[in-house]
Formats: sequence, structure tokens, C-alpha cells
Amino acid sequence: MQRTKAIILAGGNGSRLYPLTSIISKQLQPVYDKPMIYYPLATLMLSGIQDVLLITTPHDAPHFNSLLGNGSQWGISISYAEQSAPKGIAEAFIYGKEFIGSDQVCLILGDNLFYGKLDFLRNALQSNKGATIFGYPVQDPERYGVVEFSPDGTVLSIEEKPLQPKSQYAIPGLYVFDNRVISIAEHLKPSERGELEITDVQKEYLNLHALRVEKMGRGIAWLDTGTPESLLEAGEFIHAIEKRQNLKIACLEEIALRMNYINAEMFEIMLNHLPNSSYREYCKRVLNEFQSE
Ligand code: DAU
Repeated sequence: MQRTKAIILAGGNGSRLYPLTSIISKQLQPVYDKPMIYYPLATLMLSGIQDVLLITTPHDAPHFNSLLGNGSQWGISISYAEQSAPKGIAEAFIYGKEFIGSDQVCLILGDNLFYGKLDFLRNALQSNKGATIFGYPVQDPERYGVVEFSPDGTVLSIEEKPLQPKSQYAIPGLYVFDNRVISIAEHLKPSERGELEITDVQKEYLNLHALRVEKMGRGIAWLDTGTPESLLEAGEFIHAIEKRQNLKIACLEEIALRMNYINAEMFEIMLNHLPNSSYREYCKRVLNEFQSE
């Protein structure tokens, strides 16, 4: 299997969530009982990725750093880069050039939440030969990158926020690219709105006949956090499932233990540092169950 590194892009000015985001970045806002950034990080960890670069703004980098540190507590490595201005998602590969080195890279947007069986991502990481992206049917595709398929499933077009979408399939903010992505991003021209567009990267792979678009199954929930309402709904979704199952979604300590990134001793040391909270009680339960398995 190819080694995979991942970038979480968590910059931007979060203006659509103002005034929530006037002090605290969007990706640090609560989604029910955890900061938003826990969820994309959990998605990566559950897919087997242990090497992560988090790109954020110079203003927010210290906050992310004090929340997540270098990741060693979860048996992973988290490094940081600062994007001086939000000049486009594809800039992630330019800022991430050294980090990516000669490997392939998975990019996840720090405000994209996925819930469900992650086999689709593990498979993409294993079998990617150029670019692998996903298509997810939504009611309001005009808010996203949109992919159009022919009846036999061939990709016909990719458009960023088209006024008249050619399909219902939005492209979620989770992508796998081979190493060519660095030079593709370096040669991109800014769009009319002055950004290096991720959809232009995808179109370049399409031109190279190296783009695979997988339809994401109905078993996956892709949650949006772009507006106050969708942020609340994402929190309600997480709450409903956690309450029903009496389990936590995106508990990074639990994931680290179950993925064998840390052992029970390390887990216990970490547990002893957690403040008294329902989160700590949950971690205690996780450890007890793990030790009696
Ligand atoms: O959510 C999926 C969609 O994400 C895709 O379908 C679109 O193709 C893609 O362009 C993107 O659309 P958005 O409208 O959500 O992009 P936005 O500008 O809001 O950026 C998404 C996140 O990335 C946001 O939380 C901030 C962060 N970001 C964005 C830009 C442009 C950065 O950190 N730096 C940037 O320069």
C-alpha cells in the first residue's frame, strides 16, 4: 500500500458564521460535545493515516496547537503550516509541498464531517492511481463543486458552484491525490474570484484521464457546517446518535486505542490528565472495556 499523508485545511475567515467566528475559528466551534476539528481528524485516523499537516491562519494556529499539540498523545504526528490569506483550497498543496514529499496525499476540509463506514476512503487510499474524489447527492448542489456523469458513469464535467448544476452530485471536501498534485497546484491560475480552485485541480486530472469519481453510498452521512443552521443540525445529528448508542463519535483517545496507535498504558496516562467531565468518564469506560476484551 502507498504511504499516505493527509492535510487538514482549516483556515479561511469563516465569515458566513459571523459573529460566532469573530474570535474563534470556524473549525474550533462546537459540534455538540467536541470542537469541529475533531471530526475530520477522526476520519483520517480511522482510515489509517498517522501523519497530518494542519493548515490554518496565523491568528488561529496557536489555538489549534494548544488543542491538538503534536498528536503524540494519540500516537500520530500533527504539524502545522500557516496560510497567510485564504487564496484557495488548492494552495494547500503548495504550503504542504515539503510535508508531502514524494508521497500521495489526502486532503480533508476542516469543516467537512463524515459519519459511517469509512471503507470508501480506505479503498481510495489503497487503490488511487491519480486522483480519487467523491460524488454525494444533495438538494442544493449549487453550493458546492458539482460533478456530472454520463449514463454509463463516465465523468462529463466538473464545475465550482454552478448557477445551474448539471447534476445533484456535490463533491465533498475529501480528496486523494497522487504526487502530481503539487506541480498541478503550482501551475494553476487563480479563478475570477482570485482563488486557486480545488475543482481546477480535479479538472486537470480529468484532462489527464487520471480522475476517478466514486459515488459515496447512502450509508455515509456527509454533514455541512457552512451556515448557523447547518452547524446546529450537525450538532443535533451527532447528539442523536451518541445518545442512542451511548457511544461517542470522534473520541480521538478511543480511536487511537482501537487503531493501536497507542497502548492501554499510554491511554491511562492520558486519561489521568483529562479534567473531570463526561468525556473523561467515557474514556474510562473505553479503557475498562478494552482491557476486558
Ligand atoms: O465542502 C465541499 C466544498 O468545499 C466543495 O464541494 C467545493 O468544490 C470547494 O470549493 C469547497 O467549497 P466551499 O464553498 O465550502 O469553500 P470555502 O471557501 O468555504 O472553503 C472550505 C473550507 O476551507 C473553509 O472552512 C475554509 C477553508 N479554506 C478555504 C479557502 C478558500 C482555507 O483554509 N483556505 C482557503 O484559502
